[in-house]
Amino acid sequence: MTTTAIKGGRILDQQGERSGDVVVDDLTGLIVQVGPDLKADRVLDAANCLTTPGFVDLHVHLRQPGNEAAETILSGSRAAAKGGFTAVVAMPNTTPCMDDPAVVSQVMDLGEKALCQIKPSAAISLGRHGTELSPMAELVEQGVRMFTDDGTGVQDDLFMRRALEYAAGLEPGDGTSVVLAQHCEVDALSAGGVMHEGEWSSKLGLGGQPAEAEELMVMRDIAMARLTGMRVHFQHLSTAGSVAMVRAAKAGGLPITAEAAPHHFSLTDQSCATYNANFKVHPPLRTSNDVAAIRSGLLDGTIDAIATDHAPHTPDTKELPFDQAPPGMLGLETALAVAIKELGAPLGDIVAMLSWKPAKIAGLDATHGRPVQVGSQANLAVIDPHQAWVVSGAKMASNSSNTPFEGVELKGKVRHTVFNGEVVVENGEPTR
Ligand code: DOR
Repeated sequence: MTTTAIKGGRILDQQGERSGDVVVDDLTGLIVQVGPDLKADRVLDAANCLTTPGFVDLHVHLRQPGNEAAETILSGSRAAAKGGFTAVVAMPNTTPCMDDPAVVSQVMDLGEKALCQIKPSAAISLGRHGTELSPMAELVEQGVRMFTDDGTGVQDDLFMRRALEYAAGLEPGDGTSVVLAQHCEVDALSAGGVMHEGEWSSKLGLGGQPAEAEELMVMRDIAMARLTGMRVHFQHLSTAGSVAMVRAAKAGGLPITAEAAPHHFSLTDQSCATYNANFKVHPPLRTSNDVAAIRSGLLDGTIDAIATDHAPHTPDTKELPFDQAPPGMLGLETALAVAIKELGAPLGDIVAMLSWKPAKIAGLDATHGRPVQVGSQANLAVIDPHQAWVVSGAKMASNSSNTPFEGVELKGKVRHTVFNGEVVVENGEPTR
């Protein structure tokens, strides 16, 4: 047994901010002491830092199985831990697709060696083709709680209705529930588009995806939540219209949650003028009006959580011309600092969006996003909100380097991360 003391910092959680050292035990994985001047076998310096519940990312692409050159579960978990995440929900668009208990088992087994908890999601439909349901009941028995065809949205209205109705009957029996998460994109409208449709797509001569390609599916799925009474989670919202609809639907009492990605509250479609494919993502970077709406959606609670949509791609694919390169950008190692820079919110609100709010949506709130108190699972991030650093794709723990923030100076860094009592990041570096 090794105990570790996080010393000299303050604590920030859902109960507010206070001073205190924290001692964790790697054998039980629990917080065993909180208070002044604590001692342990090992010490982590937390001077100028805040000890917070570890972050939970509802949306990461780990690429294993199938594209291990871009990311593996282990390398993605290192990136997650460096970003302060102690749990991530893995998206199912692997090769083969996570629509099947065998593939989900493989991901879970590989996740055993990871530096954070790997919670697999699974596809709503076989092959993410939107026509036949995946074996949802079996997958729920395995531990899956989130279903999504992410990468694409479920196009067929009746199929979406049936998926929600079927999922409504699935009760895990452990106090958690099942949620269907939607990548909102009407393919017929976005087809041929490689960026947001607007002034910049016209100027650059690139095919556009209108905001309405997202908004029509948000509108439909709000209607579906009303029709079926089933929970819907909206992934990576990117438009002002989507935020307005979700705000109204929540005010009307519908069981809806939503996430937004850091790039959608920090970057606009103007970035694509560089023709640098690191700015290509689905849904695409939108206008400054949309960016402002995503920020206010997060600030007023319309959007519950920050989720990175961490989407690693190898350099050879991202070096292709903009219209041919795959969409997606890294997010795990920059999420906290981008949120601090762009949201102008109290740090406690930002940690809420990164930690206990997403933990609840993912059904991970028994062990993640817990108050920093004796008896809680020791899943913790120790963050220095003032530390300045310059983003470098080459220095990231991810196997890929496709960050849209290359060379940007940010403030706010994760100094240490503790996962189930184990120090997985010390002084900014993964320990294994
Ligand atoms: O930009 C994206 N990249 N959007 C998605 O929905 C999928 C993701 C990926 O898997 O690369």
